[in-house]
Amino acid sequence: MGSLLQILLALFISVIGALYLLGSFRRRRAGEPPLDKGPIPWFGHVLEFRKDTAKFLQRMKDKHGDIFTVQLGGFYFHFITDPLSFGSVVKEARTKLDFTKFAEQLVARVFGYNSMEIEHKVLQASSTKHLMGDGLVVMTQAMMSNLQNLMLHSVGSGDDKQWQETGLFTYSYNIVFRAGYLALFGNESVKSTGTLDKAKEIDRQHSDELFKEFRKYDQLFPNLAYGVLGPSEKMEAERLKRLFWSTLSVQKMRSRDNISLWVSDQQQVRDEQGMQEFMQDRFMFLLLWASQGNTGPAAFWLLLYLMKHPDAMNAVKKEVEEILRETGQEVKRGGPLIELTRDMLLKTPILDSAVEETLRLTAAPVLTRAVLQDMTINMASGQEYKIRKGDRVAVFPYIAVQVDPEVYPDPYTFKYDRFLTPDGNKKTDFYKGGKKLKYYNMPWGAGTTMCPGRFFATNELKQFLFLMLSYFDFELKNPNEEIPGIDIRRWGFGSMQPTKDIQFRYRLRF
Ligand code: HEM
Repeated sequence: MGSLLQILLALFISVIGALYLLGSFRRRRAGEPPLDKGPIPWFGHVLEFRKDTAKFLQRMKDKHGDIFTVQLGGFYFHFITDPLSFGSVVKEARTKLDFTKFAEQLVARVFGYNSMEIEHKVLQASSTKHLMGDGLVVMTQAMMSNLQNLMLHSVGSGDDKQWQETGLFTYSYNIVFRAGYLALFGNESVKSTGTLDKAKEIDRQHSDELFKEFRKYDQLFPNLAYGVLGPSEKMEAERLKRLFWSTLSVQKMRSRDNISLWVSDQQQVRDEQGMQEFMQDRFMFLLLWASQGNTGPAAFWLLLYLMKHPDAMNAVKKEVEEILRETGQEVKRGGPLIELTRDMLLKTPILDSAVEETLRLTAAPVLTRAVLQDMTINMASGQEYKIRKGDRVAVFPYIAVQVDPEVYPDPYTFKYDRFLTPDGNKKTDFYKGGKKLKYYNMPWGAGTTMCPGRFFATNELKQFLFLMLSYFDFELKNPNEEIPGIDIRRWGFGSMQPTKDIQFRYRLRF
């Protein structure tokens, strides 16, 4: 009974937050006898956990090592921080470690959506078919044509030759969200507008309005998930939810062109399963949330790291130019817009490494599983920990591996070639304690719930960057401005967001 919005649980530590709010919060070593439910002895930890989950878990890791237990809202959460032992969680049978329970509850609470029995199966099948392999070819084309509409509609008109100044986060998130939304949820129908140009103009306007509303929900989300919204925020969240249900409703979708098979297939299955239409509308908002909340912020970090590291920017630029040259394309005044296919995007090891490095530093999901029967966790060290039915097992790969200095020397520095071998191929050998790691970077999670949109998301990032590099001059307003910090309220929520935006300017080169 897998819930699509499993993502939210895994992505958004909200469950932990909500649970912690409900109850006491303590820690013990795994395997120790259960703690009684007395008064909260270490209330300071509750605050610390909530305030900065990563800092708290780092401190617990330093103090307790590879596995420790935190009591959150009456559940024992066993955090595993040894990446060599992740396999015992990720690969465990679903009859023992289940990933759907929280997700279903959370999705019902936050999105008002009641999951189906076959939720996860349908999601997997549809994603494999339409977001990977041949399906990805189609999606990459759709993304490209929508990116072109949003970014390049005024090429040649001379309108955008002036420098435009704006926030880099707002700009990147805006473009990638809107193009991704249009690629998945379809375009304005040409039949209803009369001309393609008019339909494209409506796409630009409508997606921009939708993005503004999405950001409002996005900003409320951490508190919404933690269940700590104030009364007026609650009302606003409710308004936004209804707006999305209506805007993305099945009825409205019927009249759109180019709706992706990923969206339409999943809707059709729900229809065939007898799900009521209002519930299908809610599901659409879930799909929007799952598909658009992470890639835009990731695009911002990628662009920013490259702008702050000229050697990286030059290396990526050279690769992009090379690909265009190889495919006989040139970006020039009056020339055709460049095409960028899935196959072209397979030949970019430098950009791939830069993307992976960006995600290592800025994607921080929490993976959580419910323990369905008494079982043993086998650690790589040979130690065994007995955990009981009803407990939870959690992994926070960011602290456990992604910023571990033993695995990644100088872990907080962006090194664009960290995931490249000396001969320029993808590097996959990273070590801890002399042993090769299977799980060395987990921005997409792992196992059955691993992000099914990861190939599409990577392509979105690469396409956005290709177009920026090929068609625009751009620079930071203040090149010496520091890279902003990470907004710590969002730990566990997938792609992290910055504490503040950073100004940049851009202009079309043609
Ligand atoms: C940089 C962008 C993205 C990041 C960092 C990201 C990350 C994640 C993570 C960490 C999970 C949970 C994995 C787990 O529990 O093990 C997840 C789940 C999911 N993601 Fe993504 N994601 C991204 C983009 C996308 C896109 C573009 C789509 C769709 C087009 C997508 C669709 C989904 C769905 C449907 C799930 C739920 C999977 C399930 O329930 O099994 N994601 N994502």
